[in-house]
Amino acid sequence: MSTSNQSPLENEDIRMHNNRYEAPVENSGPKESVMSESFNLKNVLQKLQNEKNYADLNWSGSFDEYLDIVRKTPEVTRNSFQRMYDMIMAAGTREYIDFKKPIIHYNFFDDPLEDGADAVFGMDIPMMKLVNVLRSAAAGYGTEKRVILLHGPVGSAKSTVCRMLKKGLEDYSRKEEGALYTFEWIDEEASGILGPEMTSFRSPMNEEPLLLIPDEMRESFLSEINKGLDGDFRVNIKGELSPPCRFIFNQFLEKYNGDVTKVLQHVKVRRMVISEQDRVGLGTFQPKDEKNQDSTELTGDINYRKIAQYGSDSDPRAFNFDGEFCVANRGMIEFVEVLKLDVAFLYDLLGASQEHRIKPKKFAQTHIDEVIIGHTNEPEYKRLQNNEFMEALRDRTVKIDIPYITRLNYETQIYKKDFNVKKVRGVSIAPHTIEMAAMWAILTRLEVPKKANLTRLQKLKLYNGKTLPGYTEDNVRELRKESKREGMEGISARYIQDKISNALVNAQNSNRGSVNPFMVLNELEGGLKNHSLISNDDRKKEYRELLGVVKQEYEEVIKGEVQRAISADESALQRLCGNYIDNVKAYTQKERVRNAFTGKDEEPDERLMRSIEEKIEIPESRKDDFRREIMNYIGALSIDGKKFDYKSNERLHKALELKLFEDQKDTIKLSTLVSSATDRDTQEKIEIVKSRLIKDFGYDEISATDVLNYVSSIFARGDTKNP
Ligand SMILES: Nc1ncnc2c1ncn2[C@@H]1O[C@H](COP(=O)(O)OP(=O)(O)OP(=O)(O)O)[C@@H](O)[C@H]1O
Ligand SMILES: [Mg+2]
Repeated sequence: MSTSNQSPLENEDIRMHNNRYEAPVENSGPKESVMSESFNLKNVLQKLQNEKNYADLNWSGSFDEYLDIVRKTPEVTRNSFQRMYDMIMAAGTREYIDFKKPIIHYNFFDDPLEDGADAVFGMDIPMMKLVNVLRSAAAGYGTEKRVILLHGPVGSAKSTVCRMLKKGLEDYSRKEEGALYTFEWIDEEASGILGPEMTSFRSPMNEEPLLLIPDEMRESFLSEINKGLDGDFRVNIKGELSPPCRFIFNQFLEKYNGDVTKVLQHVKVRRMVISEQDRVGLGTFQPKDEKNQDSTELTGDINYRKIAQYGSDSDPRAFNFDGEFCVANRGMIEFVEVLKLDVAFLYDLLGASQEHRIKPKKFAQTHIDEVIIGHTNEPEYKRLQNNEFMEALRDRTVKIDIPYITRLNYETQIYKKDFNVKKVRGVSIAPHTIEMAAMWAILTRLEVPKKANLTRLQKLKLYNGKTLPGYTEDNVRELRKESKREGMEGISARYIQDKISNALVNAQNSNRGSVNPFMVLNELEGGLKNHSLISNDDRKKEYRELLGVVKQEYEEVIKGEVQRAISADESALQRLCGNYIDNVKAYTQKERVRNAFTGKDEEPDERLMRSIEEKIEIPESRKDDFRREIMNYIGALSIDGKKFDYKSNERLHKALELKLFEDQKDTIKLSTLVSSATDRDTQEKIEIVKSRLIKDFGYDEISATDVLNYVSSIFARGDTKNP
């Protein structure tokens, strides 16, 4: 089975990347007493490092110096798709096989930058699709001309993925391997070319300096610069200068009678740091009240104050290139709920993706280089399915489905990230609480299996990597295949997060020290009444029934744990096992057994053997086989000089535990727990069981008592069916 069950955050390589990405932080440092000393040292070091970093990030130089940089590290000229792709790859990958399918996990989406704060789980397949689109766009195969549309149900981590990409770009641009550059014009004489009395003029869209190379010179320039390059990266120049830079360029060109070298002496190249806060290289467009939004928000607007200064409303220097498309140049623009966009913006969006151009009001088109990612939720997408807007968009988008998770382990990880001992104070969370909430969420997302004898719960377990008799990995793949829309509907992680929070707050308010699955399941049920997204009554009923399924499963789990805690008496198990093996040996060899107590030889104790075997459903007709198997196994071990240990045989182990439980539960009189009048002897035994629950199953005092009470009430009901 895959290694994916394990939390990716526990993975060694990722930790390594953490270190690479992050400035040293306090929490890994030594404890209080020595802290101040080592802290100072750390601070000093960090400061020195920051200073160097500061100098690097604020580098500026001549155009020629920039060309030297390009010669040494041509990757500084990567376009936005290439840079984003490399950024993702730089965090490393891990490969594994999932139900016979090779999968690549991109560590980038573990959010190593923020210690996993935005990490997404179980999204490897959608993320592989996304990375493939970026890879082909980076190679210039055509997807660079598309809007990337993340599509999925409400709360499937679409925004989270965008947030990670943005954060990633900010961070990558600050690193040496992610460095990129832009330029400004300098005119010491203030000749008026940059504007009245102006000595400098920044590229308003943070353009790549190589765009300054005129068209007719590009070919020879590129062949020259690419000549000696190792590796497979080649410098390329796509697009042209923005209108104001073009204007300024031409003015200088005129001044110097066509001498480009002289024009370029007015150029100061500088390092560019992508930052959402500073509105550099990252843009976000969010549909608002339609009347108040017009296309200038995307493409920029005339600056009336500057018109007075420049004397003309068609002077490109009087234009504010501060629309989201302009701001996002060199990086990425995110269209939140892109399908809610007014049709008026559609053409801007389509031009921006297809042609890499935007058309500001009254100005020539201007080139942009940015990754365009939109997201939309499934209900919205469905609503617009046959709409003209969609018609136009469909061809020009690559849609990537971001469904809900359908694997229990991953869903559980989402909640463990928010609700763990470190974050939740004052209230403990009983074992299985989070898992049961996650289980319900997954159940609501699964399609009912077509196979009549397979329940949704069983399907969930199969998906989660559990084996069921009669089901192979191929069968599980088929199950997945037949459920086309799985993960596109159901309960969102957000709903579960909210309800777990509620349960915690309620417990805090009522001074109860622990939250258990029942409390959370009740919250989940209560919230269904006014869940805004499920208006359908049948659906609500179905979800309620699934809560019942989860409760039942939970009872089975805790019954099993209490049983195991009761029968976890190692020496008693050892004795029982020895007894069983002696009898089986005598039985298979048709001998008699010596009764240690009476010293007499007796017939093998058939009743004892059967009472154990029945616990794991070995029928009478199969008992000979089972006994022979065990003896063969023991025989083989002894040839190797090894001793038999019941723990190495899972089935026998379970059978012995169940038998021991049956023998002991009456002596412990668990059922008397419900009535509080227990004698001292029983109380002592109960304490032992409780301590085992705490030691072996992760309970604390409150939750262990809760569970014992609950399980004993089940036994008191007489419902002692084996799990
Ligand atoms: N696969 C996942 N891994 C980790 N967290 C997840 C996953 N899916 C959902 N979440 C959690 O669910 C919450 C909602 O995520 P987010 O806001 O990114 O969803 P969305 O798809 O943008 O939703 P909407 O459609 O409502 O805009 C977040 O708290 C996120 O951490
Ligand atoms: Mg969102």
